[in-house]
Order: sequence, then structure tokens, then C-alpha cells
Amino acid sequence: MPPRPPPALHLPPEDLEGVTEDTWLDVIHKMEEVYSKLVTDEVELEEKNAQLEQSQQFIFSLLSSMSDVLIACNQDGLIEESNAALCELVGRSEQDLLGTPVPDLLADAQSVQRWQLAMYHAAAHEVAVVELNLRDAQGLPVPVDMSCTPRHNSTGRQVGRVLVGRPLGELKRAYHQLREAHDALKLAQQQLLHSEKMASLGRLVAGVAHELNNPISFVLGNVHVLQRYGTRLGRYLEAVHQLDLPAPIQALRQELRIDTLVNDLPSLMEGTLEGAQRTADIVDGLKRFSSASQGKITPVELNAVVERAIHWVQKGTAPNFEIQWTRGPDCHVSGNAGQLLQVMMNLIQNAADAANANTSAGAAAPQLRISLTQQDRQVQLRFSDNGPGIAAAHLSRIFDPFFTTKSIGKGTGLGLSISYGLVQQHGGHLTCANLPEGGAEFTLVLPMASLV
Ligand SMILES: Nc1ncnc2c1ncn2[C@@H]1O[C@H](COP(=O)(O)OP(=O)(O)O)[C@@H](O)[C@H]1O
Ligand SMILES: [Mg+2]
Repeated sequence: MPPRPPPALHLPPEDLEGVTEDTWLDVIHKMEEVYSKLVTDEVELEEKNAQLEQSQQFIFSLLSSMSDVLIACNQDGLIEESNAALCELVGRSEQDLLGTPVPDLLADAQSVQRWQLAMYHAAAHEVAVVELNLRDAQGLPVPVDMSCTPRHNSTGRQVGRVLVGRPLGELKRAYHQLREAHDALKLAQQQLLHSEKMASLGRLVAGVAHELNNPISFVLGNVHVLQRYGTRLGRYLEAVHQLDLPAPIQALRQELRIDTLVNDLPSLMEGTLEGAQRTADIVDGLKRFSSASQGKITPVELNAVVERAIHWVQKGTAPNFEIQWTRGPDCHVSGNAGQLLQVMMNLIQNAADAANANTSAGAAAPQLRISLTQQDRQVQLRFSDNGPGIAAAHLSRIFDPFFTTKSIGKGTGLGLSISYGLVQQHGGHLTCANLPEGGAEFTLVLPMASLV
């Protein structure tokens, strides 16, 4: 504003007689002084105003460009100042936020409690850091690490608090995704290691089975022939012994204990045959674990297979074993019905063995839950028992051929390895885990037969 011109000087009328010219000049001089001071003050005031406006503008631009949220509140926790980041986060205007109690912006009771602790219980000069969940514009909680600093007026009296914080939502989400990706990678790595191990075991076992197959077939075939020969020889000797044999022959019969020997022969043959047969069965099992031959492939309805497996196990070794079966919708996989039945029976038999082994006092009655579900053209069968579960150290070895914790004669350790191989050959996978409530759970996933 340009300085105002000095007021026009009018000489006084004649009635101001006695006032000398000097006095008038003095007055005029003083008036000019006062006026020029007024002008200087006004200029100064305007400069200060401009400075104030500038610094206000600066503060406003700072507040607007801050990506952290900011709240200044009074001693009662009512908002006195906020910034654009906060307005955007909570979906309210600055005007609207003015005078709002801070707890109104919080998403849960826990945050309110933390806020109250920081606001009213932290010492007057203490900077408290609290994790608060602000409610965003959609009503969802957004975690923010807030530093809550006391605010003082010019006389040093505390007049409220300033809260500044960075919304962690994005960061946390990114961290969460990273952790999930890491877990998935770890799992994939474990699965890769496991399938590598199973594949090399498969090759080894296939070689061993191939090498054993021929000799054991000779042994079995020859023992069968020997059995027949033995019977015939026995009959012949019986006839010879009816004759009146010379004394040296009779003595030799006694000396060589021919009668005992002939009596022992059948049981010896039977023992040999049984051993040879068991070896042949093991070789057969090893071949199934490793071979790619799948037998006859037809569409197989899995619910029916599970029901047959339950029937056979209950009829065989576990008549009192309680099985809760949740039938799924009809579903067909393409495979070999006999082999799939064998897999299910192995799993059910193992569950029965495990659950029955839990004989500690107060243990629940042995029980197995089986369910069948379908998703994304895959069938999932879960076998969850209430046995003792699988020891952590055994989890990675349970599908190895000959791994067993059962006593000799009770377990061969082949059931799961054969099942694993069969399921792989059907394009599926078999996994195991322990249930949080105890007991083991085997999950069998098979691809559904393609729609014709
Ligand atoms: N449901 C289960 N609960 C606990 N352990 C199990 C279960 N199923 C299998 N196992 C463990 O896996 C081992 C291997 O099983 P498997 O290959 O069928 O051989 P086997 O039954 O002859 O021992 C078992 O000896 C047992 O230790
Ligand atoms: Mg078994």
C-alpha cells in the first residue's frame, strides 16, 4: 500500500491569537514525525504479514507433501491440525477432522487402549511409539507406527500431542507376500528333493528287483519240483522199507537216520517254499514301487474303491476299527482298480495299526476319518487317524522301501513305498502330515479322468 500523503496544513483562524508561529511550526514538525513513524510501522507490518503468509504457505506445502500421516491434537485428544496424507487415508476432509477425537479414527479397541496409554500415561516429555490401526476410507484397519510427541506452547506448558506415522499396510502386505513366496519356495524345494530321492530310490530298487527276479524264480520253480520229487522219493522209500533188506542196508538206514530225514523233508520243503515265496512277494512289491507298468487302465469310480477297501480291512484284520467315511460326489479317475484298492487298503491298514497302538489309558477309541472331495479336476482323499502320529524324524523316510517301525514279521515297510509308486504312476501324489490335534493324515490327490 503506498504511504498516505500528509494532511493539508491550514493556518488557524484569527481567534488563535497569541499562538506564535514557532509553536505552529513545532506542532507541524511533530505531526510529520508521527506520520512518518506510522508509515514505517505500516510498511514493517506489511512485510511481516507477507513473511507470515509465506511461512504459512511453506508449512501448508510441507504438510501436503508429507507421505506420513500427521495429527496435532489438544490435551483432550481433539484434532487441531491434520495433513493431506491423513485425510486421504481416512477419507475425510481437513475441515471435517477438526475437533474430532483421535479415537474416532481408530479401527479397534486395542488401538484405543494403546492410544490412551501413550496420550495420558506417557511422561510429559516422553516420545511414545505406538502401533495404531487407523480405519481407512473403506473401513479396513491400516496399521501405522505412530510416534506420539508432546506439544508445548510458548510458555512451555504442554498443550497436546503431535502424532506422526507411516501407514504400514503396503509394507506389511508386501512382507506377507514375500513370506508366503518364501514358504512356497521352501516347500517346492523340499518336494523336489523328496521326488529326486524317490526317483533315485526307484532306479536303485528297480535294478535290485530286476537282478533278484530271475534267481528267485528258479528257486521257487525248483522248490516246487523238489517238493514233488520228495513226495515221490518218500513213497518209494516206504515201499523199499517193506522189503526184507540185508543187514548192512538196515544198519546204514539207522546210521543215516533215513526215517527222520524223510519225515523232515516235507516241512523243510514247505519252509523253503514259504521263504522263497516271501522273497518273490518282496521283489514283486519293489517292482511295483519302481516299475512304470500300470496294468489294465479303465475308468475307476473312487468312492466305490474306498468302500471296498474299508470292507476288506474291517473284514480282515480290523473288525472293530471305527471308520467315518464321508462319501463324495461320483468321480472317475483313469487307472487300475486293483492297484488303487491296494493303495487304499495300505493306508487304512496302517491307520488301524497306528490307532490301535495308542493303548495309553484314557486314549480315545481307534478311529479313522476318510473324506473325498473334488476341486479343479482333481480328487482329494484324506485319511486322518487318531493314532500317535508320525515322529518328526520319520516324516521324510516314511515312503522309503523297507522303512518300518513295526516289529519283525509284522511290517515289511513296503506298503507305503508301493502305494507311493502306484499313485505316482497314476499321475497323482501321496503326502503325509501330523494333525494339530494328534494323529496322522495321509492325503492322496489324483487327477480326474478327462471328460470324453
Ligand atoms: N497312520 C500312520 N500313523 C503313524 N505312523 C504311520 C502311519 N502309517 C504309516 N506309518 C509309519 O510308516 C511306516 C511304514 O509304513 P508301511 O510302508 O506301510 O510299512 P509297514 O506298515 O509294513 O510298517 C510304519 O511302520 C509306521 O511307522
Ligand atoms: Mg503298512
